[in-house]
Amino acid sequence: MSSFPTFSNPAAQSWRYESGKNWAPKFHASIPGFSKSALISLPLLADELGVASLQVKNESSRLELPAFKILGASWAIARVYGEKLGIPESELTFSAIKEKALFSGISLLVAATDGNHGRAVARMAKYLNCKAEIFIPFGVSPEAVAAIESEGAVIHKTEASYDVAVDQARVFTESIPGAVLIQDTSWEGYEEIPQWIVEGYQTLCAEIDEQMASHPVDVVVIPVGVGSLAHAVVAHYRGASVFHPVLVSVEPTVAACLLRSLKDDVRTSVETTPTIMAGLNCGTPSEAAWPLLRAGISAAVVVDDAECAKAVKELNANGVDSGPCGGATLAGLRTLLSDEKARTSLGITKQSNVVLINTEGLQANPLPRECS
Ligand SMILES: Cc1ncc(COP(=O)(O)O)c(C=O)c1O
Repeated sequence: MSSFPTFSNPAAQSWRYESGKNWAPKFHASIPGFSKSALISLPLLADELGVASLQVKNESSRLELPAFKILGASWAIARVYGEKLGIPESELTFSAIKEKALFSGISLLVAATDGNHGRAVARMAKYLNCKAEIFIPFGVSPEAVAAIESEGAVIHKTEASYDVAVDQARVFTESIPGAVLIQDTSWEGYEEIPQWIVEGYQTLCAEIDEQMASHPVDVVVIPVGVGSLAHAVVAHYRGASVFHPVLVSVEPTVAACLLRSLKDDVRTSVETTPTIMAGLNCGTPSEAAWPLLRAGISAAVVVDDAECAKAVKELNANGVDSGPCGGATLAGLRTLLSDEKARTSLGITKQSNVVLINTEGLQANPLPRECS
């Protein structure tokens, strides 16, 4: 076990956040073939961990892709097309933008990615008969690159870190008329599209609340790369939700930019090295996410590759299709629960209902041979 929860802020549970109406769930429901992802109950693991229930929100198949990312990419791209075509957000539907996409003036969609986001952007581009070019940092598996290519996207392999790949994608987009950068992290001057991506992710939180209707949601465990997914979860559970759970972030030990930032109480970058949790291998928290994560995250833990691989196998053995980013949540929960002091201060008891966000299936990011 990688020691103890390295950051804990019990006061985060009572922090509240106000936001406006989110139209993303309505848009998602208009996409042909859209359905809720499953919430899978694992009673044996719950018993072993000493909690009332353990549920896994299973994003291993979302709109036929093996990760949650298309929730954010689809809504952000719909908003971009909506702005160009003069369609208000409340009236955005998949067919409305598809019919008029050719008149939008958008020539190309660009993104940098650890795998899943790029594939989601490329899939949306394909649906809308638009081109896509995707920038790939080091450490992304050949299978993930091939999956993005299979969507018809042009690939740029950077052999640099994620942060550098994002910057290269930004510069490239600026050089091409009609190109739009669809990036799932924000920085000064680039906030709107990442905010739409965050709104898109919130659909999965709304689904959890519906699916948990007879039990409260007491603890939610979130895998964190740049923290945009965690931003969505904080915005939802410190905002419109009827539940006010303990929110736990999990990062790879080698890319713990949120943990570092929370400890230093300032948004901070870290040097990263490769990890099997490719989607979490990011060196800087998203700028827009940071204030919400600072106020709303209850505990932050890190896990190493060996702990993660073990958790992936455990979830797989329990019938859950989970890749490393999803497995990180179970490994992170174990780390947190093993710390009696943190468990008590956060109010996690035998009565607690815990939800893990399993953000990808194994197909998105297979375990390397040495781990399987
Ligand atoms: C499968 C998976 N899980 C979790 C994350 C983390 O999301 P974020 O970067 O918004 O923290 C990513 C990001 O790429 C991902 O691909």
